[in-house]
Amino acid sequence: MSLHERPAAAPVGEAIPHESAALHVTGHALYTDDLGVRLQNLLHAWPVGSPHAHARVTGLDTQGALALPGVVRVLTAADVPGVNDAGVKGDEPLFPTEAMYHGHPVAWVLADSEDAARLGAAAVQVTYEPLPSVITVREAIAAGAFQGAQSTLARGDVAVGFEQAAHVFTGEFDIGGQEHFYLETNAALAHVDEAGQVFIQSSTQHPTETQEITAHVLGLPSSAVTVQCLRMGGGFGGKEMQPHGYAAVAALGATLTGRPVRLRLNRTLDMTQTGKRHPFHAVWKAGFDADGRFTALEVTLTSDGGWSLDLSEPVMARALCHLDNAYFIPHVHARGRIARTNKTSQTAFRGFGGPQGMLVTEDILGRVAPLLGLDAHELRRRNFYQPGEATPYGQPVRHAERMHDLWAQLLERSDFRQRQAEVAAFNAAHPYRKRGLSVTPVKFGISFNFTAYNQAGALVHVYKDGSVLINHGGTEMGQGLHTKMMQVAATALGVPLSSVRLAPTRTDKVPNTSATAASSGADLNGGAVKDACDQIRANLAAVAAGTLGVHPDDVRFEAGRVFPLGHPERGLDWKALVHDAYHLRTQLWAAGFYRTPGLHWDRVAMQGEPFKYFSYGASVTEVEVDGFTGAYRVRRADLLHDVGDSLSPLIDLGQVEGGYVQGLGWLTLEELRWDESDGPNRGRLQTQSASTYKLPSFSELPGQFNVGLLERATETGVVYGSKAVGEPPLMLAISAREALREACAAFGPPGRTTPLNSPATPEAVYWALDAARAARPQEVPGD
Ligand code: MTE
Ligand code: MOS
Repeated sequence: MSLHERPAAAPVGEAIPHESAALHVTGHALYTDDLGVRLQNLLHAWPVGSPHAHARVTGLDTQGALALPGVVRVLTAADVPGVNDAGVKGDEPLFPTEAMYHGHPVAWVLADSEDAARLGAAAVQVTYEPLPSVITVREAIAAGAFQGAQSTLARGDVAVGFEQAAHVFTGEFDIGGQEHFYLETNAALAHVDEAGQVFIQSSTQHPTETQEITAHVLGLPSSAVTVQCLRMGGGFGGKEMQPHGYAAVAALGATLTGRPVRLRLNRTLDMTQTGKRHPFHAVWKAGFDADGRFTALEVTLTSDGGWSLDLSEPVMARALCHLDNAYFIPHVHARGRIARTNKTSQTAFRGFGGPQGMLVTEDILGRVAPLLGLDAHELRRRNFYQPGEATPYGQPVRHAERMHDLWAQLLERSDFRQRQAEVAAFNAAHPYRKRGLSVTPVKFGISFNFTAYNQAGALVHVYKDGSVLINHGGTEMGQGLHTKMMQVAATALGVPLSSVRLAPTRTDKVPNTSATAASSGADLNGGAVKDACDQIRANLAAVAAGTLGVHPDDVRFEAGRVFPLGHPERGLDWKALVHDAYHLRTQLWAAGFYRTPGLHWDRVAMQGEPFKYFSYGASVTEVEVDGFTGAYRVRRADLLHDVGDSLSPLIDLGQVEGGYVQGLGWLTLEELRWDESDGPNRGRLQTQSASTYKLPSFSELPGQFNVGLLERATETGVVYGSKAVGEPPLMLAISAREALREACAAFGPPGRTTPLNSPATPEAVYWALDAARAARPQEVPGD
């Protein structure tokens, strides 16, 4: 059987709850920080944060802190035996001599209690020489403050494209960032064994990199450092790189004191110190022919990378690779550059730049549709990729027809046309309240652009009693990866799901892992788990073939029974077979490996086939806006998303729902504000808690929420025909933003463009609708 084929009656595809659902909802699930209280002699770490956005550290006096009861040690640069850097680019000193953003930790205090550590941190005397700071992306552009590589994605000749255009538009667009707000803040717990081996529990999406960075900070080989991630209370990309420094601080403290060290950020510290979704600035020029088809697009994207690079370059690459979204644009010239600002180091966040890239083009289409005299949904559909066309980076758009089918199905299911008429009638009857209805597509490339990351490993053990224990390189952050991996193993071995257990992710079980990211966790680790299981099954088939008197190829494994093809009644029990196989000295465990075939990417030329396939989706959202305040409600959302043949439909529905709501938060509610004044708090994050940073919650859920998975969508070449699901649904929320634009536009005369800021907070919506309203002579009030 090939990778995508499923046996009959397989545990994959069963709609089962998350493996830890009961633990999550009862509070029994353990997280990194819960493990600390079980240790003797635990030390607690607290940072000494810079009160300046940018300043040279001219002095650091720890005397006052060390004199306090309970304070054990203050960690500074002088303590680092290896490399004083917590990043992969060499631009993130763990103990800096120059504070690069407001709150930047310059030292860490270790104490017997968290309170003592906190008091100790306040007693460390640091002297600073303040330096000029850059806070906004526009300031950075004006100052020419950039970092990392600048990249260009180009196809054709935009000059020719603009010549062919019947209409040319230009514009500018600012896109806000987003705080991850995972429920579990960053946490690490480290201790050292008798041989000096370091063991770190970390809430990390990338245990291998946490291991490598801790090792280089400590001056140890990777083999002396083990990182375990039990589970995360959410990562959303925020724990791809940010956890490393915290793990390194805890590990350094543990090696220096011989005591276990716990480091957990509280919410304010986490929001103050850790990177967020990149804010983006875009300047664009777009050409369309007389039918509304793109002829050319020229864009400069500037992301706000914050104080250091971390993942800003690959985030920009993904943004550039998703500018096209679902649309064929013949001539493209897109430039990407990364601003350096004195803010947190912006990082991965669900979609990894893809959402920002797509939003630029969706914003263009939403703005220009009325100027082209087209309904926005018609303008979008006209520009869809046709089968046989390729992206600007040269990758053929496989299954382009799926987008067309999915779109048609969704319009049908959501009664789109009828509701358009209803919305128009409502708007005609209500001068002070308007509704908007919008539909937008998603096409998202799956795989890491960085080809080497597209590999994974697994370790599968079958014990003598027939029970199964699996380990794989991916981490669990709530997305249900472990649930899926158990389903994959049970399917591949032909045993009931109840015989499979899963052990926490550890770098000493599966080495050299990639971050669990790019939505590829299930594709990659699923391939590796299946490979390990296939090896074990082949060993067992050889034994069974002898017992059953058939060729090994004709042995079937299903639901704990092993039998000759076509003769389920003649079989034997899995447990009995395993028992026999052990006594015949058969290897009952295996290491599995998977590498995604067929990928190549030229990072400099921005050309190649970086993605194994595209994930498709579309959404219809209806909103209602109040003309006095700009307040709005999402009345209804209909989502249809392509997950291939789902490995685990309940999990996937949850991912689609959660992705949409998180996207809704980014686009409509969540607004990061930094102090941009010249006052003493310049650079300080003003929205550093749940009271000032508005997150979506139950009350913001769409009144009606219809979520569907595309049917008969087998993806060949991926484990059991499935597709990745983690990130793409976030971008389904773009239809909510576009619906808000439509509603704002309805306050004014037709045929005009309606710019809308992002996030489209009630305030932004108010200004947009007020501008639309101002374009029309004052009406006589109706009802
Ligand atoms: N879902 C939950 N519940 N929690 C998370 O932190 N992270 C998202 C997505 N879904 C996340 C989530 C992100 S950013 C990614 S890349 C994928 O899950 C990672 O997991 P996967 O590769 O197994 O899909
Ligand atoms: Mo997800 S942003 O790739 O961790």
